[in-house]
Amino acid sequence: MSKTQRQRKQNSFRLDYLLAHAGFGSRKEVKKQLKSAAFSLAGEALRDPSTHIEIDQIQNLYYRGNPINIQLSAHLLLNKPAGYLTALEDRSLPCVAELLTPELLAAGLKPCGRLDLDSEGALLFTNDGQLLHRLSSPKHEVEKVYYLHYTGKRPDQGARTQLENGSIILDDRPCLDATVYLDGDENPYMELRANEAIICIREGRYHQVKRMFSAIGAPLSYLRRIAFGPLHLDDRLPLGSHRLLEPSEVEALYQICDLEVPTL
Ligand code: URA
Repeated sequence: MSKTQRQRKQNSFRLDYLLAHAGFGSRKEVKKQLKSAAFSLAGEALRDPSTHIEIDQIQNLYYRGNPINIQLSAHLLLNKPAGYLTALEDRSLPCVAELLTPELLAAGLKPCGRLDLDSEGALLFTNDGQLLHRLSSPKHEVEKVYYLHYTGKRPDQGARTQLENGSIILDDRPCLDATVYLDGDENPYMELRANEAIICIREGRYHQVKRMFSAIGAPLSYLRRIAFGPLHLDDRLPLGSHRLLEPSEVEALYQICDLEVPTL
C-alpha cells in the first residue's frame, strides 16, 4: 500500500487543523483555546490538538455546548517545484501529493489540471468534484498566466501575432487567442528582461505553452505558472509550500464556474 493510500484510509483530520479551518483562528490560537476545554466530541472534552477526528464524527464536535459548522470542502494553492509529477502517486517519480500533509490528502484533495514535471508554479487542489470538473473543462476557458524563459532571438511582430491570434495549430486545432508580453512591454505582473516573457492563455492542452513557443522557433528553458483564474502566486508562498485559499478566492473560483459556494 502506498503512503498516499495509507493516509487516505485514515479518513480523519487533525483536530487543530479542523478547528483552524472552521474559523477558530490559527493552529497556534486553536491550541490555546483547547487548553480551556471549550471543545468536545460527543460529550468528551478535547484538549489534544493532535487528536484525529474521523470524517463521520465531525458533526459531533461542539464548542461551548454548540455544534460547530465545519466547512468540509477544501481548496488550496501549491507552489509546485520542478521535479514533481502532477499526480497523487506514481511508482517511480516524486508526486505533488508528497508536498501536502496527510490531513489534506485525507480530505480528498485533487490537483486541478496539470503542470509538467519540469514546470513550476500555481497548482490548485480541491476536493469539490464539480468545481474541479468545471475548472478543467475547456468550456469555462479559465485564464492561466505563465512566466517563461525562451531561447533564441526575440520573437518578431509576425511570431508574436501567431502566438496571439490563434494561428498556431496544435493537434489539428488552432489555439485560442492569447496575450503575450515581452521585455519592454508594459504588463501588470512583473518587469521582464531579455529572453523572458509572459503569456496568458485560456486553454490547458498538453505541453501547450512549450509547443506554442517551439512553433515560433523560441523553445522554452523555464516555465512557471503565476496565476490560475483568480489565484495569483506571490512572495507569501515559497516554492514547495501551499496554503488554504482565502474565502474571497474561493468565492471568485466558484463564481467563474457559475457555481454556488457549498456550505458544507
Ligand atoms: N504549458 C506547458 O507547456 N507546460 C505546462 O506545464 C503548462 C502549460
